[in-house]
Amino acid sequence: MSLFRTKTVEESVRDTEAPGHRLRRDLSALDLTVFGVGVIIGTGIFVLTGQVAKEKAGPAVAISFVLAAVVCGLAALCYAEFASTVPVAGSAYTFSYATLGELPAWIIGWDLILELALAAAVVAVGWSGYAASLLDSVGLPLPAAIANPPGQDGGVVNVPAVLLVLGVTAVLVLGVKLTSRVNAVVVTIKVAVVLLVIVAGLFFIRAENYTPFIPPAESTPAVEGAKAPLLQVLFGITPVSYGWFGIFAAVSIVFFAYIGFDIVATAAEEARRPQRDLPIGLIGSLAITAVLYAAVSLVVVGMQNYTRLSEAAPLADAFKALGHPGFATVISIGAVAGLTTVVLILLLGQSRVFFAMSRDGLLPAWLSAVHPRYGTPYRSTVLMGVIAAALAGFIPLAALAELVNIGTLFAFVVVSVAVVILRRTRPDLPRAFRAPLVPLVPVLSVLACLFVMLNLPVETWLRFIAWMIIGFALYFVYGRRHSRLGAPRRTP
Ligand code: ALA
Repeated sequence: MSLFRTKTVEESVRDTEAPGHRLRRDLSALDLTVFGVGVIIGTGIFVLTGQVAKEKAGPAVAISFVLAAVVCGLAALCYAEFASTVPVAGSAYTFSYATLGELPAWIIGWDLILELALAAAVVAVGWSGYAASLLDSVGLPLPAAIANPPGQDGGVVNVPAVLLVLGVTAVLVLGVKLTSRVNAVVVTIKVAVVLLVIVAGLFFIRAENYTPFIPPAESTPAVEGAKAPLLQVLFGITPVSYGWFGIFAAVSIVFFAYIGFDIVATAAEEARRPQRDLPIGLIGSLAITAVLYAAVSLVVVGMQNYTRLSEAAPLADAFKALGHPGFATVISIGAVAGLTTVVLILLLGQSRVFFAMSRDGLLPAWLSAVHPRYGTPYRSTVLMGVIAAALAGFIPLAALAELVNIGTLFAFVVVSVAVVILRRTRPDLPRAFRAPLVPLVPVLSVLACLFVMLNLPVETWLRFIAWMIIGFALYFVYGRRHSRLGAPRRTP
């Protein structure tokens, strides 16, 4: 069946050498880890911690962060095996093409737009909130019409978010080495701010804020209709806040905080020694951020009673509430810098996925041309940058963040399944990194991701399904007819 024709691993690797389509191999294991940390630490820890502790998990939000890290860790082992076996740009898209076939690969490529471009827009909107509040604190308030998301508090178009995305796009076009240098500086600032919260915050912890650590479960008014989690609709489970179910519910939200580690795999083609460095980058960045998140969330709920945490800027506001606005300003500056790199790397990943899809003929070929001077896939970068800027500027994105989570979890499920398939179909391939206990680890990864997905609202599922139907249609209208794999004689 041609819908399931696969592109061999050898073909994928050979394509990376095609003249005019070759990316520069410039990144070390450290660069990759910094990339990972740069995209992982963002809105999740800077914004969601407060909201989730307050509404769902109480001080036990730290447990939710650890559980979410376990879910991601299982998937990361699968990504690491794949990235070390098929070191080609495109991540889950490329892996699927090598195992499940063309249609599933296209679907995953389409799905990754949710994880990458949409998440970039969501994070840019979060960034503009912090940027506006910083400008405000130095006496330069922005008019509401150009500072707030459309439809919210008089907002018309979110100008700071648009400018951020366009600026980041320009940096990406100028080249990977510049990108990773800019990134390294900003990541240093971001990690320093996170460490500042942990170390300075330790002095303000009050033991009574930890009791009860897991507040007793409280039933919340059942959410009806499309806003209810699918788990509730399918099994009639009433949602609760706090207790262990509250901790699980929180996992499906704080999951957002880890999104991005898999993007290290999208940079496979630009790694100097992909077989060794990719697993280090993937698992290293995930482990580092898991430890930081657990520590930050423990400190913050120790500083302030969880019922009083702020939802917009919990880390900064906890210091403000305790009479230390100076710390709060430093943290806000770190958040502004930190969220910038998140947008940067999300868009980098997106342009590389498009690059790989266009090289395969599933998207128009002009997208995959590499810039003669900068060696970057500038057309796919500019295209996705402009789309993400438009989304960030004109669409209120709060609810769409959940769409990012479901899209990412779906990609994790597919990659975990694909690892098992590739072990069967191509046992001969050299695997510099082998996921342990296959098939147990991939199976656990699939189950864990599905469980987290079930905790997402019905409306998120409906939007996700609608997006996928559009993707199917596009494949039959364009991709299927232009695929290079489908027409080998047309290839140069
Ligand atoms: N993990 C990224 C963040 O939390 C997407 O912003």
